[in-house]
Amino acid sequence: MSTLITGAGLIGCQTAALLAARGEKVVLLDKAPQAQHIASVLPLEAVRIETGDISDRRALIATLERHEVQQVVHTAAALSMAIRREPALAADVNFMGTVHVLEAARLLGLRRVVCASSTTVYYPIFQRAPTAPLNEDFAFHTVSERPSRLYAASKLAGEFFAQHYAQTFDLSIAVLRYSAVLGLWAGPNHSVPGRLMAQLLGQGAGEGPVHISDPLLMWRGGEDFIDAREVARANVAALDAPALPSCVYTIASGRMARFDDFIEAARQLQPGRPIGHAPLPETGFAGFAHPRDLPFDISRAKAELDFEAQHDLLESLRTAQRWVRT
Ligand SMILES: NC(=O)c1ccc[n+]([C@@H]2O[C@H](COP(=O)([O-])OP(=O)(O)OC[C@H]3O[C@@H](n4cnc5c(N)ncnc54)[C@H](O)[C@@H]3O)[C@@H](O)[C@H]2O)c1
Repeated sequence: MSTLITGAGLIGCQTAALLAARGEKVVLLDKAPQAQHIASVLPLEAVRIETGDISDRRALIATLERHEVQQVVHTAAALSMAIRREPALAADVNFMGTVHVLEAARLLGLRRVVCASSTTVYYPIFQRAPTAPLNEDFAFHTVSERPSRLYAASKLAGEFFAQHYAQTFDLSIAVLRYSAVLGLWAGPNHSVPGRLMAQLLGQGAGEGPVHISDPLLMWRGGEDFIDAREVARANVAALDAPALPSCVYTIASGRMARFDDFIEAARQLQPGRPIGHAPLPETGFAGFAHPRDLPFDISRAKAELDFEAQHDLLESLRTAQRWVRT
């Protein structure tokens, strides 16, 4: 099987490592692939690396044909911080990038596409204080009301197109809504949880104290996190699943972690290092307006993809600590 993974970042490289370990042909496509970063996750000889922009549909199709690709895991995207700086990336890269992948799948008859979405599409519902684990809402009764940010809007637009392509052109497509992803690697940390972990583990602070003061990196209530290695496992599970009846799946741990849990875990891993923080903001995770207390319902991924997360917060931080030290 030959798989193209768009985005040679945190999740793309972890996914490539799993497929390459099974002896499969893997092509990593990124606008600026960093060989030394990729090599920190998997042997370079186990993967073909292509430089290309996901916004260029012709080049994407040519790459797929050249490598005789049968399936795609589409992770290339601008994350929320990049979109704050350059809002049009939400449309140019996230939405149009997804459309190009779907169109390529239609034209080339690919066997399967897995698209990375985000649980940020759920966030408007927290205004209503849910009373049970947040259901997956595949009927789009709540998530389509008004995505809270351009990033979420770009992901949701991609989801709608993915569903239509699956139905209209009889394509096999899985949209995976990852929750907040925990993970560090030798490459840059573009995500909010990645930046939080790096700061908590003292990246760039030597042996000195840690003080978290960025309000985006603190929150009230809880948040449902998932380890990047688990997300990679979910991508592979979605490639392997015999069928995808629901098309859209929530990839989360189903457990909540509070900001204090991160502080406690960081102290446990770094005894002797003073770790403190500014007063907590009134907001939920990553500056979202409403704190939340209940995790995601993860039953569909369990039932249809045979996927369930295993790592806990301390284990994820311990692994990240190795990256910080090396
Ligand atoms: N990290 C998280 O917390 C999180 C949570 C939910 C969903 N997601 C989604 O998961 C996916 C992967 O996230 P990640 O954490 O691995 O991010 P990342 O930033 O580590 O990797 C994304 C990669 O995409 C590449 N890229 C950006 N624009 C491109 C373009 N125009 N053409 C080609 N490549 C381009 C970047 O160079 C980068 O290597 C994204 O779609 C993201 O929206 C991430």
